[in-house]
Amino acid sequence: MSNRGSFSNKLGFILAAAGSAVGLGNIWSFPFEVGAGGGAAFLLVYLFFCFILCFPVMVTEIAIGRKTQLNPAGAYEALGFKKWRILGLPGIISGVVILSFYNVVAGWAFGFFIELLTGHFEIGSQFSTFIKDVFKVGLYAMVFMFATAFIVSKGVSGGIERASKILMPTLITMILGLVVYSLTLDHAFEGIKFYLVPDFSELTLSVMGNAMGQAFFSLSLGMGALITYGSYVGKNDNIVTSAAFITLADVGIAFIAGLMMFPMVAYLTDGTMEGAGQGAGLIFTVLPGAFESLGPLLGVVIGSLFFLLLSFAALTSTVSLLEVPVAYIVDEKKIKRNRAVWIMATIIFVLGIPSLLSNGYSGFFSSFITYVGAENATSFMDFAQNVANDTFLPLGGCLISIFAAYAWKTKNLNEEIALGYPNYMGSFIQKYLNFAVTILCPLVLGTMFLLTL
Ligand code: PHE
Repeated sequence: MSNRGSFSNKLGFILAAAGSAVGLGNIWSFPFEVGAGGGAAFLLVYLFFCFILCFPVMVTEIAIGRKTQLNPAGAYEALGFKKWRILGLPGIISGVVILSFYNVVAGWAFGFFIELLTGHFEIGSQFSTFIKDVFKVGLYAMVFMFATAFIVSKGVSGGIERASKILMPTLITMILGLVVYSLTLDHAFEGIKFYLVPDFSELTLSVMGNAMGQAFFSLSLGMGALITYGSYVGKNDNIVTSAAFITLADVGIAFIAGLMMFPMVAYLTDGTMEGAGQGAGLIFTVLPGAFESLGPLLGVVIGSLFFLLLSFAALTSTVSLLEVPVAYIVDEKKIKRNRAVWIMATIIFVLGIPSLLSNGYSGFFSSFITYVGAENATSFMDFAQNVANDTFLPLGGCLISIFAAYAWKTKNLNEEIALGYPNYMGSFIQKYLNFAVTILCPLVLGTMFLLTL
């Protein structure tokens, strides 16, 4: 399928998949979800979902993608289950919805890069004015969507692979440096306590639902992004170790982002942690002040570089989000790749306009709905995020497991995995994965879906 492009080698796939996973989900939404979910209790549930439930779903998605070499909807059909085809569609729709608001937040990150580059540290305290400025943010978001479409039109491998190899480690190093710095701040201990010492009275059903949604969102699961990427993996590659690496990298980066953020929040609030639950603005309101305290020169350098790298991390995610609907229309509607890319990018940008307007500019979209159970989710953007992340992605994960276990059958799943993993059959990991896809994931994710409805 020359039309689809492919990764140069195994590392290329891992980097691209890790690039898809690591993004705003780790550095923007993870800290604010932890903050809103009461801290460590949220973190524990999140870790449970990532390792116990999401990991098997990730292996399954990659295996289905490699087996069929197709987009999510086509993949179900290709395995001989024409009726299941319909299951691919919610995934493709979630991809479109997620990208529509994600691109707006990416626009914020890119905008902050420009602001901090020009020394505007006060942008943190002016965040609510900044996001209301729809022409400015809209322009940044447009640049972002353009860059995404440009990369996707060139095929998923190539430049993005090479750039990831340098930029991702730089971002991680920088966050680690900031962790060290934030641990030296006054009240750092209160921040760490909030983040790492659980208060189980905070653990409500809605917090658990948010932790589940955050896990799927951050790992890029439940919508077929990794089915699409899995179609680019070589037959001799070990899917299990690749998935383990991607999961560990993603969770690890989110975890250190939390270590960076909460001492800063504690410092700014004299240890009270008030405002930790403010929602989507958390990193944008907190970080510029911290950068400013590094002094004018260092603050500008570190601050702008941070948001530039964050924008890049977001870009490797938006690329994978756009790739899903594009692969779908390329494979199914036989549209040329280039055209498909620009058509989808334009549609999704337009679909993002309500999210853009929902941060104070339009009263209607800003208080779109009071989404049951999530106090912060009143704007259209919050609403879209809640529906996509907390409902659709876990549902997608549940359906993928059910499909693999009961339609495609675990025997075939196992055979696919074993191609690149000689000792797989009979191993503990095989038993666990089979148990997870046949019982655990359908049961837990299905129950959570019904409960959070
Ligand atoms: N995982 C990405 C992030 O954390 C977002 C994403 C979700 C990408 C779903 C692809 C699919 O930023």
